[in-house]
Amino acid sequence: VQPAFGYEGDPMRLLYEKGFAPTHAFAQFYLWLRNTFQADAIVHFGMHGALEFMPGKQAGMGARDWPDRLIGEVPNVYLYAANNPSEATLAKRRSNAVTITHLTPPLASAGLYKGLQELKDSLTRWRGTASDASGRTDLARLIATQAEAVDMNGSNPDALWLQLLETEEALIPDGLHVVGRPMNDARRDALIASLPDMTEARAAKLHAQLQEQTEISALMRALDARFIAPVPGGDLIRSPDILPTGRNIHAFDPFRMPTAFALADGKAQAEKLLETHATFPRSVALVLWGSDNIKSDGGPIGQALALMGAKPRFDSFGRLSGADLIPLEELGRPRVDVVMTLSGIFRDLLPLQTKMLAEAAWKAATANEPLEQNYIRAHALAYAAEMGCDIETASLRVFSNAEGAYGSNVNHLVDSSTFGDEDELADAIEARKSFAYSRFGKAEKNADLLQKTLKDVELAYQNLESVELGVTSVDHYFDTLGGISRAVKRARGTEAPVYISDQTRGTGKVRTLKDQIALETRTRSLNPKFYESLLEHGHEGVRQIEAHVTNTMGWSATTGAVDPWVYQRISETFVLDEEMRERLSQLNPQASVRMANRLLEASDRNYWQPDEDTLAALQTAADDLEDRMEGIAAE
Ligand code: BEZ
Ligand code: MG
Repeated sequence: VQPAFGYEGDPMRLLYEKGFAPTHAFAQFYLWLRNTFQADAIVHFGMHGALEFMPGKQAGMGARDWPDRLIGEVPNVYLYAANNPSEATLAKRRSNAVTITHLTPPLASAGLYKGLQELKDSLTRWRGTASDASGRTDLARLIATQAEAVDMNGSNPDALWLQLLETEEALIPDGLHVVGRPMNDARRDALIASLPDMTEARAAKLHAQLQEQTEISALMRALDARFIAPVPGGDLIRSPDILPTGRNIHAFDPFRMPTAFALADGKAQAEKLLETHATFPRSVALVLWGSDNIKSDGGPIGQALALMGAKPRFDSFGRLSGADLIPLEELGRPRVDVVMTLSGIFRDLLPLQTKMLAEAAWKAATANEPLEQNYIRAHALAYAAEMGCDIETASLRVFSNAEGAYGSNVNHLVDSSTFGDEDELADAIEARKSFAYSRFGKAEKNADLLQKTLKDVELAYQNLESVELGVTSVDHYFDTLGGISRAVKRARGTEAPVYISDQTRGTGKVRTLKDQIALETRTRSLNPKFYESLLEHGHEGVRQIEAHVTNTMGWSATTGAVDPWVYQRISETFVLDEEMRERLSQLNPQASVRMANRLLEASDRNYWQPDEDTLAALQTAADDLEDRMEGIAAE
């Protein structure tokens, strides 16, 4: 196992810092492989390690850049998830990797279980009886009771019916993919049935492709130094052409993004967001990643442009060269101010788009338009006056990390429990993401301006792109959207609503973060179909279940958008149930201890308030799990 980045407990100083050097352990790991073991090639197995994120230039590594110093000229074959073109591009640029794609987990509908199924039965009866039928009052009472038992609101059966259908039909990952092992017939059938726009011919082709084993043979081909065919990265659900796997990921043509389709889609999604929010927002905070844009040819970039009332400008060769404003008459509404925080990966992969977004904000800020029709200008003039700076500076809206740095560290602080007050999480993201990128592509730290812009933000949101990775599956979502929402809260003194624009299916849907977390908790964490499939994979399955709990707490810490029942039910299902506790402990003693302790930590931090008995039982269970872990270690 590749050594970790740095020292646990002190991630702030060590992780991704510009002047940071890898630990002795990390450096020796690679030097030993090269010099002592004399490896002919290195296979990085699975997404993703730390080598390609070590300090140094973004691209064109030289002898002073750490990834190059570590791996040198040893061929790097990298087994990589087929749906992650953005980070794969970094692995290729910064560590000379040839990537070999592997499939992501099969997908299936969440279905209903236990009390949710009983509730649906009652609601079905309700819908089948006339509104004046006898017994309807009793049925309504039963529905209310059954809804309460599954932490739902039963006062409006029609709304509840829709919520239940959404839960039942939600797509979830069904276990894990095992490299080189095609999924079984039942899972293949379920997966293909869940894909949109299937014709018989398409389905037949997919059936054939999904039964082939192409991954291990491609890995062996790469180790023979033979050609690996290229493939764009994407999700099976929207881009079945990622099959067959076992190919080398490439990303996109940077000059053509955003495409006309992405602009039209971005406009539609932006309108959906504006419709969902109760009032017309003067300013929004938008988190932009590389992956969501690369997979949609710039959909979220299109959203940012649409909100500002701008469009890309292409030169006579059709290459992206900047941004222009859409006239107010054509726009038909005020320009919304958009405070954009880019992942370091976006910043690296999309420099033209970074400049274009900055140019759009600058053009809006300097347009001769009424202030009540142009909130970008209204805010920029106010900031310039307050800060005594020019309008060029006051119009900066594109924020990211310092060059060569990634991430906001909020995830590490949560993972290692090393934050005290939640405002420390706002400090972390402001320290990391306060580099303002100009229309010329230059970055300058301006924490004061970032805070000023966040103070005016009325809502924060991010797009969700991939069924496999929900907002509670990986720590990156609370690291970016959670972190910025916390910074907004501190700047304003009150919380601002947080939304998820779910782009994983159909024409997209905007949900509140709270609803998204509740949906994922019901369809994933607490759903036997989800966790039993994971537990088939033993140790790694338990680790993933535990990760959901930690990520959930990350959302509590950053946004408070987690209802207390989430922690209560997770405790009951995985820790207080003796049989399950024993099972998890056998499969992965460390992760089971972590889970119990995380639930206790969430209670300590007042993210839920278990009654005395639950708390005592949880504490006893945590002690029990720790004893088991020590027992297993002693054996
Ligand atoms: C990105 O594609 O920008 C991204 C990927 C993983 C984590 C954070 C950002
Ligand atoms: Mg990552």
